[in-house]
Amino acid sequence: MKTMLNIALPKGRLGEKVYGMFENAGFPCPSIKENNRKLIFENPELSLRYFWVKPSDVAIYVERGAADIGIAGKDILLEYEPDVYELLDLGIGKCKMAVAAKKDFRDNPQRTLRVATKFTNIARNYYTSLGRDIDIIHLNGSIEIAPILGLSDVIVDIVETGTTLKENNLTVVESIVPISARLIANKSGFKFKNKQITEITAKLAALTEGQK
Ligand code: PRP
Repeated sequence: MKTMLNIALPKGRLGEKVYGMFENAGFPCPSIKENNRKLIFENPELSLRYFWVKPSDVAIYVERGAADIGIAGKDILLEYEPDVYELLDLGIGKCKMAVAAKKDFRDNPQRTLRVATKFTNIARNYYTSLGRDIDIIHLNGSIEIAPILGLSDVIVDIVETGTTLKENNLTVVESIVPISARLIANKSGFKFKNKQITEITAKLAALTEGQK
């Protein structure tokens, strides 16, 4: 019997799309659609085990080998720099990491810039590359409020449709990096389950090509 391949899927809207891609690529797990409270699903015929985890936790499961492969946003990979292989850009979950501020914000390069964000590493790396001194304010959510209340000058956050910024009278001042969902693999899992992982990667890649 083949050993099970463990696949960490990000819970939520992106995860549904991702699972749909696995299904279309020939790796279905019918029971996954029958129960929305269970977190682990198996397809013994294909030796696959899927499980739902919080999107920001996928990389931890994969890095530590609890999952052999998984799907994580490029934002998470850039922020936490997990020791994993990045195998494929799935071309979904597209958005960008950007700097945003109030519409009337005028930067004064002589002053330390106050930056509110969930993504402290991405923000630090970005401003270091510009040689700019910043004061990082780490927040866990509702980042858009920070400049409105004067907690920060700018925010570094994910922008997808731009609606959240617009609704809060903020605007993008700089784009940092494009983001999308990536297929990642545990390094030793990639060695020992190479055949299964390579096959899945190739089939998903073909699907991704077809979508372009
Ligand atoms: C992200 C981000 C913005 C929003 C941007 O939050 O932090 O708030 O999406 O999307 P938009 O440009 O389409 O409006 P998310 O919904 O991922 O939840 P979070 O607040 O937990 O980060």
